[in-house]
Amino acid sequence: MLVWVILVPLHSIAKITGPCPNCHTMHNSQNGMTVVAGGPLPGLLNSECNGCHAGINDGNNTTPYVLMTESEPIYGTAGINGDTLAGGNFYWVAFKNLDRTGHNVAGVALPDAQLANTPPGSMNGVSLTEQLTCAGVNGCHGDRSVYDPYKAMSGAHHNNDRTHWKDGVTPAQSYCFLNGVQGLEDPDYEYHPTAMHHNKYYGKDRTVETDSAEGTISNLCGQCHGDFHSGSSEMVAAGTSFGDGVWLRHPTDFDMARAETSTEYSGYNGGTGTENIYSVVSPVATADIGTNLNITVFSQQDDAIVMCLSCHRAHGTPFGSILRWNYKKWPGNDGYNGCAICHTTKN
Ligand code: HEC
Ligand code: HEC
Ligand code: HEC
Ligand code: HEC
Ligand code: HEC
Repeated sequence: MLVWVILVPLHSIAKITGPCPNCHTMHNSQNGMTVVAGGPLPGLLNSECNGCHAGINDGNNTTPYVLMTESEPIYGTAGINGDTLAGGNFYWVAFKNLDRTGHNVAGVALPDAQLANTPPGSMNGVSLTEQLTCAGVNGCHGDRSVYDPYKAMSGAHHNNDRTHWKDGVTPAQSYCFLNGVQGLEDPDYEYHPTAMHHNKYYGKDRTVETDSAEGTISNLCGQCHGDFHSGSSEMVAAGTSFGDGVWLRHPTDFDMARAETSTEYSGYNGGTGTENIYSVVSPVATADIGTNLNITVFSQQDDAIVMCLSCHRAHGTPFGSILRWNYKKWPGNDGYNGCAICHTTKN
């Protein structure tokens, strides 16, 4: 049986409201004093991205906070009950000198001492021209063909409608302003997510590994980490077809229902292969583009799609390789085997 849920916002999710000077400064000057050091900023903004987006999430804040500055975020073993949001937090890469726990974004952290500005898996080891930024050519958010991060985001904030499916047509209409990416956003950005309240990620069940799966979150990651997502003989050996069951790299944009040994995956999150409860520890994407939340998996075609964010978070976590859970410490007290949410016969 299909279960459809009408999204009821937990709190009001209007587009940006409030007095203009909360966020803008007309001349970057107040009483003869500079407002933003190093400014003025494009868009007449009174703060950089990480200024507005730094704070402590409490479930009622409408600005999503991705950087805690005062104290360590509460993350826990899988990041679902503390005070971090879906993307995790830059705290560990910014303040703990743990380069491998997050994306080393300029202004937040120094470049990664080991990786520098080269995304692992970038085709032929191509480096970015400079350190990662939040948005623009060297970043993830906004129009990735525009160099200036603020220009790349222009128009996004004031045209945000988080109650509808984001179809990716403009930065404002893209999932989390990630230009081109589709999805449905949880009202409070996955503060304490449950199967009943979480982001809905768009995914594609691919049949060939050269398919870049446009519109998916994994496609966005693949724009810098290309070889880990698609290519020729990157995911499966030459002569083998995508989905034959023997992989060179972990599959993404691949539907679990198509796996060869389906009894392993039909147990996803403790279920039986029909109407399994969606896991917020290891989420999956879906090809469904409606505003019905996918609270169950294996309920319709292509709703059990493995994606980069099944194992990683986008901003940062306390763990190396920005993993969602403490993979390397398992089995041990601090460790957690999130792989077992899907690989149910391997623990
Ligand atoms: C809560 C913060 C906030 C408030 C309040 C706010 N803005 Fe903005 N505004 C932004 C941000 C952030 C940007 C730049 C990034 C973007 O466009 O997404 C922006 C961009 C703009 C832009 C250029 C892009 C566009 O959408 O046209 C204009 C014009 C603008 N704001 C005018 C205003 C006016 C007028 C007010 C008061 C009625 C106002 N803003 C109030 C945050 C705010
Ligand atoms: C604009 C290019 C870009 C995009 C898009 C991008 N990354 Fe990265 N990523 C990098 C760069 C550069 C590094 C190496 C420097 C660093 O760690 O910040 C990196 C490093 C990483 C690492 C290793 C971190 C570490 O230090 O161990 C992981 C994991 C990762 N990215 C995952 C992702 C995922 C998942 C996505 C999609 C949500 C993504 N990336 C999107 C550029 C990108
Ligand atoms: C002046 C404060 C301010 C600045 C500067 C600012 N933001 Fe925001 N941002 C906000 C607010 C407020 C919201 C919540 C918007 C809403 O409720 O629709 C937001 C929302 C977002 C979201 C979530 C969008 C969604 O629908 O899921 C992203 C992503 C984001 N901002 C990225 C950025 C980036 C990147 C920059 C820098 C280029 C930036 N912001 C600069 C205030 C700001
Ligand atoms: C969201 C579900 C999911 C998660 C989480 C997951 N996997 Fe997988 N994994 C799959 C699927 C689906 C396949 C492809 C199976 C097939 O084609 O038969 C796969 C394939 C593999 C393979 C290759 C098997 C082969 O036949 O070539 C290995 C090894 C593997 N996973 C290890 C891991 C490890 C280690 C983790 C945790 C870090 C993990 N997986 C997390 C779903 C998942
Ligand atoms: C099944 C879980 C899983 C999925 C899905 C997954 N990764 Fe990973 N990733 C890992 C693990 C675990 C590591 C740590 C290294 C290892 O054990 O191989 C890692 C490491 C990385 C690294 C660091 C590599 C380095 O050289 O240090 C990057 C970058 C990365 N992943 C990006 C991606 C991108 C992009 C995607 C989607 C296209 C993706 N991952 C999908 C589990 C996964």
